[in-house]
Amino acid sequence: MSNEEGKRRAARAAMRYVENGMVVGVGTGSTVRHFIDALAERRHDIEGTVSSSEQSTRLLKEHGIPVLDLNATGPLPLYVDGADECDPNGCLIKGGGAALTREKIIAAASKRFVCIIDPGKKVDVLGRFPLPIEVIPMARSHVARALVELGGQPVWRDGVTTDNGNWILDVHNLHITDPVSLERELNQITGIVTVGLFARRRADIVLTGETA
Ligand code: A5P
Repeated sequence: MSNEEGKRRAARAAMRYVENGMVVGVGTGSTVRHFIDALAERRHDIEGTVSSSEQSTRLLKEHGIPVLDLNATGPLPLYVDGADECDPNGCLIKGGGAALTREKIIAAASKRFVCIIDPGKKVDVLGRFPLPIEVIPMARSHVARALVELGGQPVWRDGVTTDNGNWILDVHNLHITDPVSLERELNQITGIVTVGLFARRRADIVLTGETA
């Protein structure tokens, strides 16, 4: 099975968690693109969506799916999103598409987080995929120095500005054996907006093309 087929199958499988009348949190990326295609077929059954990026908002609107404001909806019953890596406990690395901040907000505000990935993203230990971190632009060098002290090798994703007007550092060389404590530690560094480690609020359900 190709990676693309794995993504498509995982995305289709997530539809079983979508119930009539729901407001659905929608992530970002190529796997979510398949989910949006599937969701379009049920657009009249749901109340609407909350989107995690300008990219997903555009796709949702193109499909005629309503996009709502999280401040107006309150807590969501369901969030569906992809990931860059997933460990056996459902802890994730996310942010390859630079949408990690809004993704993390929606994940936090959702009762159930269903993660859709192709099987190639399953790892025993997180860190092979460089960890994305969103930073306030003026803090980029300060944060990078702090990350080097922690043993990482940060690389500025030059030319990329997030939907929130910030920048991304991709941190290489991390072998993340304790994701919860690393997430907590990184959250203490001034200038970091969001760490792409989703450990404290991890996925509740992980769907791969295989399980579909
Ligand atoms: C977006 O910022 C990311 O968190 C995506 O969820 C992640 O990069 C997975 O993307 P793909 O589904 O395109 O692999």
